[in-house]
Amino acid sequence: MKNNKYTVTAALPYANGPLHLGHVAGVYLPADIFVRFLRMKKEDVVFVCASDEHGAAITLRAKKEGTTPQEIVDKYHQINKKAFADFGIGFDIYSRTSNPIHHQTASDYFKVLNDKGSFTKKTTEQYYDEDYNQFLADRYITGTCPTCSNEGAYGDQCEKCGSALSPTDLINPVSTLSGKTPILRETTHWFLPMDKHEDWLRTWIKEGKLDGVQQHDPKLWRNQVNGQCMSWIDGGLHARAMTRDLDWGVKVPIEAADGKVLYVWLDAPIGYISATKEWAAENDKNWEDYWTGDTKLIHFIGKDNIVFHAIIFPILLKEHGGLILPDNVPAYEFLNLEGDKFSTSRNWAVWLHEYMAENPDKIDELKYVLTSIAPESKDAEFTWKEFQSRINNELADILGNFVNRAIVLTHKYFDAKVPSRGELEDVDKDVIAQMAEFPDKIEGLIRKYKIREAQSEAMNFARLGNKYLAETEPWKLAKTDMSRVETIMNIALQITANLTIVFAPFLPGKAAKIAEFLNCGTLGWEHAGSADILPAGHSLDENKPSILISKIEDSFVDAQVAKLEASKLEKAAEDKAAQPVTHPDQKTETSFDDFMKMDIRVGEILEAEKVKKSDKLLKLLVDTGLDKRTVVSGIAEHFAPEDVIGKKVSVLMNLAPRKIRGVESQGMILMAENAEGKLSFVSPDDSFTAGCEIR
Ligand code: 2FM
Ligand code: ZN
Repeated sequence: MKNNKYTVTAALPYANGPLHLGHVAGVYLPADIFVRFLRMKKEDVVFVCASDEHGAAITLRAKKEGTTPQEIVDKYHQINKKAFADFGIGFDIYSRTSNPIHHQTASDYFKVLNDKGSFTKKTTEQYYDEDYNQFLADRYITGTCPTCSNEGAYGDQCEKCGSALSPTDLINPVSTLSGKTPILRETTHWFLPMDKHEDWLRTWIKEGKLDGVQQHDPKLWRNQVNGQCMSWIDGGLHARAMTRDLDWGVKVPIEAADGKVLYVWLDAPIGYISATKEWAAENDKNWEDYWTGDTKLIHFIGKDNIVFHAIIFPILLKEHGGLILPDNVPAYEFLNLEGDKFSTSRNWAVWLHEYMAENPDKIDELKYVLTSIAPESKDAEFTWKEFQSRINNELADILGNFVNRAIVLTHKYFDAKVPSRGELEDVDKDVIAQMAEFPDKIEGLIRKYKIREAQSEAMNFARLGNKYLAETEPWKLAKTDMSRVETIMNIALQITANLTIVFAPFLPGKAAKIAEFLNCGTLGWEHAGSADILPAGHSLDENKPSILISKIEDSFVDAQVAKLEASKLEKAAEDKAAQPVTHPDQKTETSFDDFMKMDIRVGEILEAEKVKKSDKLLKLLVDTGLDKRTVVSGIAEHFAPEDVIGKKVSVLMNLAPRKIRGVESQGMILMAENAEGKLSFVSPDDSFTAGCEIR
């Protein structure tokens, strides 16, 4: 049988920050599982990814961190590359769009399209920030989305509803550089007239046909992808600028285009091609084999990337000519975290590199949980409590328990050798028949990109094993009917061997571990479903099996939740401290006479207690030199009552008395406040006694 060629891509993450579990669950892990499965089926696959190192996402991050774009991309490329490798995402190559091969490829690609007349060069008015002398596109400009009213839409896209936008579509546009409303100024750019492509796109997406030839099965495209694409096309596509007035990116390879670079969404998907070229050159392959002919191109992406992969990149591929169009664009919805959206700016995230550093022994555990909750058809949620329950109640209690029982009993009764199978009872025949069906079921689901369901079927296979042992109870029969026990354990071990195969795409580490217990080496998918994988007499590993999956303690969950809360608070405090120190403008003039009306004196605090039902107020008894009076002061969040007794303070004596929380306050204690909101008493030195005037 002729094997297919596949080029599988995973969205190039911007090298402007670390990856979190939302990214992993909704792009990289399902892509990796799909590829591992294809490899087990001996398909010829290349799996490519890279850091997306251009665009406003990078330059704005550099500005925020007070550094250069180069430093930003160098830093996050290394962090993300290592996190992927540690987590076992098996890219054939993890490249960078800053590599010379990419600049060359993207530049050549632009020239091919320009020579073919695929672009129209137009001078139009674009938003411009006069304070920064910069044209504003993409993330340099925000405003209200005309489609969904999201107030934080970017100049090229609304990440909330997925609409592709142009800066001039935004309602109330604001420059993200100066915060001001931009002006319009003329500039010249190369536009992709997308409107010209509506007809073929419609047929290609709806029917999977291009020029009358069937290209892909449209039923395998997710509803969300079909739906979004058709609604854009039906709404009418518009010309879109493919170049930008920026100095960071791939230079527009045309004379007299100084100061212009390719739009990041033109250059980034070409990164899939340049990464393939780089891999091919290093591995004695021909990159064109993976971008032409019958090869299937599959783009794993998040839902905010649909328009770029299912409409814009296909137009660019078709215009170039000689290259394949995507066979599928499995797009994922978003993952939330503990009831809230993942947010880099609020530090509400579980970072992959941190998880890996802290839990290098729990890789497959995380993979299992993320696949179980993968946001395939709707947004999903990660909680540490569910992390614990999925691992303890499914991974450990079903898979771990079955494998352990099968292997431990074989050690106990048969000296770690596979016993032979005798006459089969109905229960055995039934389990063997079901065993034969699982692999095809799992394969069918993976090929339909239903990876979450596929893993759940693999777990059902382990459930079948548990049920079989629970029904046949070999530990009881061992006292009376050892030949029956032989048959049962033979079948249980065949199931265990099958589990090493069907779980391998999802949990490669655990599958390898089970194969070690069985001493059976790596088994290919062609063995899956067979009840004769392990011959009678085969020796399992001579050592008793170690624990396959350790349970997650409550203390682990508590620590993770506490860490999350603490990092959010820490970030908020950091942000506050990073705010420039501002002193409010001077108040309007007051007359000397008015000032002299104020009676301010040194006082000494004699007693202090919290005002009931208030976190903010202290009730103070103050010796003012004239009398002892009660003053209510809003300092309880800054000072404990016992810390203020004996303090010399400044008291505004003749402020009209007023009741605060039922207590009459006869004056006011003056305080100094700094930019972080810290308070200090305004105190004279100790030699000044209560009653001294302040003026
Ligand atoms: O949305 C993003 O994070 C982009 N960096 C994805 C790019 S995918 C591809 F086209 F390069
Ligand atoms: Zn929107």
